[in-house]
Amino acid sequence: MSLVSGPGRGGAKGEQLPEELQLHADKHVAYIQSLDTRKDELEYWLTEHLRLNGLYWGLTALHLLGAPDALPRSEVIDFVLSCMVESGGFGAAPGHDAHMLYTVSAVQILATLDAFEDLEARVPGGREKIGKFIANLQDPTTGTFFGDEWGESDTRFLYGAFNALSLLGLLHTVDVDKAVAHVQACANFDGGFGTSPGAESHSGQVFTCVGALAIAGRLDLVERDKLGAWLSERQLPNGGLNGRPEKLEDVCYSWWVMSAMAMIDRLHWIDGKKLADFILKCQDPELGGFADRPGDAVDVFHTVFALAGLSLVKHPGLQEVDPVYCMPKSVTQRVLKVQR
Ligand code: FPP
Ligand code: ZN
Repeated sequence: MSLVSGPGRGGAKGEQLPEELQLHADKHVAYIQSLDTRKDELEYWLTEHLRLNGLYWGLTALHLLGAPDALPRSEVIDFVLSCMVESGGFGAAPGHDAHMLYTVSAVQILATLDAFEDLEARVPGGREKIGKFIANLQDPTTGTFFGDEWGESDTRFLYGAFNALSLLGLLHTVDVDKAVAHVQACANFDGGFGTSPGAESHSGQVFTCVGALAIAGRLDLVERDKLGAWLSERQLPNGGLNGRPEKLEDVCYSWWVMSAMAMIDRLHWIDGKKLADFILKCQDPELGGFADRPGDAVDVFHTVFALAGLSLVKHPGLQEVDPVYCMPKSVTQRVLKVQR
């Protein structure tokens, strides 16, 4: 059975798109399903430090492809909970130290699987414990967040904290105003945002800063036209997007740039058809998955951001993605309705 619904984007009725511009949805599902069965391969062990992130990327990709049950729900929940440590945070894999980014992935997976009750049944008070781990990482002086107890801070961690706490219904447990003021201090004269005050604009950090402001309900602080103009300059003649001036295009910026454009209502400032064609050329049509650019090796990170980018430009056959959370919109609507 094909997972692609409808005839796909094409010209005249019945016209077949060239192979490289078709979405190979079934192949992508099979690719993601295969990732956990490759334990005899070196790459599997070399990426252990990303295991929980990888599960979030793969699960989200499957949901966007319309195959939400392609991974076994109870095994996924078991694995996520096996990464939880005493402090309430999560490590990348069992036995690893807790870090903000893995904790965010854990919350996103549990939210996607509607598993907060499973969490409470297995770890009584689990929601609150996770919330405390995250809240303790806020820097009381600047309002931003550290990634872990060792102290590196970055707007990625601030965004992650807002993402997970809002899904858990615990955003009020941190100083939102102070964090928002920190994000404002990261804004640059070109309309973009950097990793900390004074750091150069970078599309990945634009996503985190605009996403955090969206969750805080403070998008009024964004200079939309200025930021939209800087982001629209990220599209290169081949249709792909880069993260900063003078850099190469990369499929993951289809997400970092376009999600921010969606949040500030400027999606139409990018040529969506040219971008979709570039993204589709990054597929491996035989083995499934997407690479950073055409011809390179695929990985699950670029696969989810390729599919999420295609979803934002309304490519047929994909579920709607939430530009603030990088999760299926059906999931965030369900979870955030309960939390309000
Ligand atoms: C580019 O990274 C991307 C970023 C800096 C943003 C990363 C955001 C997070 C980790 C927050 C969590 C995200 C989600 C979707 C829930 P890069 O290191 O590839 O940059 P480079 O292209 O300059 O190397
Ligand atoms: Zn990339």
